[in-house]
Amino acid sequence: MIADVEVATLARAWGIAKPTHVLANVATTIAMKKPAAGLDGLIVGETAISTLDHGLHLRGFAIEDLVRQATYSEVAYLLLHGELPTHEQLADFRAILAEAAEVPPAILQLLEELPLHVAPMDALRTAISALAHFDEQPNETDDTASLGKAIRLLGQVPVLIAARQRLTRGLELIDSDPELSFAGNLLSLLTGRVPTARDERALDQSLICYADLEFNTSTFTARIVASTGSDLHSAVTAAVGALKGPLHGGANEDVLDVLLAVDSPARADKFVRDAIAKKRRLAGFGHRVYRDRPDPRAVVLKDICRELATTDEQHRLEEIAAAIEAAMWLHKQLRPNVDWPIARLYRMLGFDAELFTPLFVIARVAGWSAHVLEQQRDNRLIAPRANYTGPPPRTFVPLRER
Ligand code: CMC
Repeated sequence: MIADVEVATLARAWGIAKPTHVLANVATTIAMKKPAAGLDGLIVGETAISTLDHGLHLRGFAIEDLVRQATYSEVAYLLLHGELPTHEQLADFRAILAEAAEVPPAILQLLEELPLHVAPMDALRTAISALAHFDEQPNETDDTASLGKAIRLLGQVPVLIAARQRLTRGLELIDSDPELSFAGNLLSLLTGRVPTARDERALDQSLICYADLEFNTSTFTARIVASTGSDLHSAVTAAVGALKGPLHGGANEDVLDVLLAVDSPARADKFVRDAIAKKRRLAGFGHRVYRDRPDPRAVVLKDICRELATTDEQHRLEEIAAAIEAAMWLHKQLRPNVDWPIARLYRMLGFDAELFTPLFVIARVAGWSAHVLEQQRDNRLIAPRANYTGPPPRTFVPLRER
């Protein structure tokens, strides 16, 4: 118990008028004595968008049901609007998305002129930031403006990725086709071919899996930026930067290296033992939250990969993946995360590894935007403290005396 007199003393020391704020600060200070490394397990806010309790639910719907029965457009609508769309609402949403897919010529020129060595993920981050300059409401942060920006970005990001991909290969740009589904159009923009129903559905299912995940690192980044009163493009640009890292979304690009380094299922056990002995982290395994239970996205996508595999090479990769999974469980009790099967799925669809994380961005724009909107609706600046570990106060010595 903290006596009233102590609260009054603390209030004076911290220059705080309200006792409730004093108590909140006391609780924070006590908690800070043992800060969890990486904020592990810390509840840092509230959300009605998604939860990792009991698997993964988006607005109350189990991810497995969404993957098997919904389309990415329905899920994006669900995240942004809170409810599943009716037929009519979905048709309107798709029409608005198709209209929003227009990208200013100056951005296409920028994507063409960025040096060739710039990776697709970096080019995408730059292009999203630059898009803000051409937006009709660049600095407005009210609900209607942010929702409009979110929908525009959702339509534009696939165009950005496809444009960079094709421009750097000297290929003609493909126009968006409003008659195609979100995933079908994305495939067409990238490949210039009419997508098969199988590829379209598999890509759509991967996007649903990537659409949102509670307070993951990039989403939290977006919320922090939004909490300062900044705009949606700034929040999403920062989130792209956070997602790029190999411990987060960037891991999906590294998964293929792991799979291809093991050329037969029989070599998986030794490969894993060696990696663990060298304290090497294998991309596609482990998760901050899904530790004592499987990542439900990895489970459902593993089945989808098996359904998709047709060639000998694809079947072989499935077998190698299963052998690595078994060894990781045996030697380190680590399970695969979403990126483990998704890398195989994207390879089966014919994508280069450097496109894997940009594809993650396409899907997560819906989740990030929903979180930015939620943050803006009930905002308080996110501004935590740190447990100071530096030197105690000391006397400053002027330069001439040092
Ligand atoms: N391979 C080998 N060992 C691992 C791995 C891994 N992928 N992940 C964790 N470990 C080990 C870690 O070295 C530690 O071992 P020890 O106790 O012997 O020191 C133990 O497992 C516990 O790890 P941790 O540091 O407490 O785990 P964390 O919660 O900080 O890390 C993680 C979570 C995702 C960063 C980590 O599992 C990792 O680096 N995985 C590889 C990268 C990856 O696949 N990231 C994608 C995550 S899911 C998609 C997304 O949302 O971004």
